[in-house]
Amino acid sequence: MKIAIASDHGGFELKEKLINHYGTLNIKLDDLGTYNTDSVDYPDFGAKMAKHILAQKADFGILICGTGIGISIAANRFKGIRAALLYDDFAAEMAKKHNNANIIAFGGRTMAFDDVVRRIDIFMNTSFEAGRHQKRIEKLDME
Ligand code: RB5
Repeated sequence: MKIAIASDHGGFELKEKLINHYGTLNIKLDDLGTYNTDSVDYPDFGAKMAKHILAQKADFGILICGTGIGISIAANRFKGIRAALLYDDFAAEMAKKHNNANIIAFGGRTMAFDDVVRRIDIFMNTSFEAGRHQKRIEKLDME
């Protein structure tokens, strides 16, 4: 399982904590930046992650900005990307089960570390139901 992670400055601290946490569990998160707290533009990191996922360099991506909103909007501009803001545990389950999200997003200034870890674990331990949901996600990419 290959997992990539990226953030802007608003998500930098949470990104670093997640990299360390999963590192202690021998789960490597590929870090696409940003690499310090200098102010950057979230669309650049949403786009970088979207291209990384579309190039099949990771199974899914984790994006973080201040709220998770801007960076998920940025990623969702790319056809084939399904970026979901995991605002609670049920959303974490459904984002995989019904939407087969390939990017999950979090707010570094709005969410607690423990909540984010639990939602990532729920997402990873849930399967896509396919069936009627398959054609729905295909419709997302129609012209
Ligand atoms: C940056 O200050 C902030 O606007 C950004 O991290 C994010 O919250 C945008 O949606």
